[in-house]
Amino acid sequence: MNAPSTLTRRSLITAGSVTVMGAGALVLAACSPAGAGNSGASDSSGGGSANTPKVDAGTEVVKLADIPVGGTAAAKIGDAPVLLAQPTEGKVVCFSAICTHQGCVVDAAAKEFDCACHGSKFEAATGKVLHGPAVNPLEKIAVKVSGDAVVTA
Ligand code: FES
Repeated sequence: MNAPSTLTRRSLITAGSVTVMGAGALVLAACSPAGAGNSGASDSSGGGSANTPKVDAGTEVVKLADIPVGGTAAAKIGDAPVLLAQPTEGKVVCFSAICTHQGCVVDAAAKEFDCACHGSKFEAATGKVLHGPAVNPLEKIAVKVSGDAVVTA
């Protein structure tokens, strides 16, 4: 007599668990970077060059005048987004714009680099983490000033 109602309750509990698991999977998927193709191993970069663009030395990245002294700029090397800063006049640094947290593209802000995905902030002059959740610095890319341009070194 009670069997049908017990089965019904068990069925509901089971269905509820599936729904919760589905919602959890949806949340995890939302945290993944779009199109990064990286399964969360980016925190262990260890100096790897997965985000370093493969171009010939001497490839122009941006005009020096496009980076304010004491400020930052965003550019691309090939298809790879990069960030540049000119901490002092004529001294330029360049970093991959791929966030070391989960691979979103980091934006150039006035005095730092900011990741909109989870709020990480990086020091413009060094690429070091100012604010997590990222724990590793942005990957540095060798550049130099050549005439009026910044080029790959
Ligand atoms: Fe999470 Fe940048 S991807 S803070």
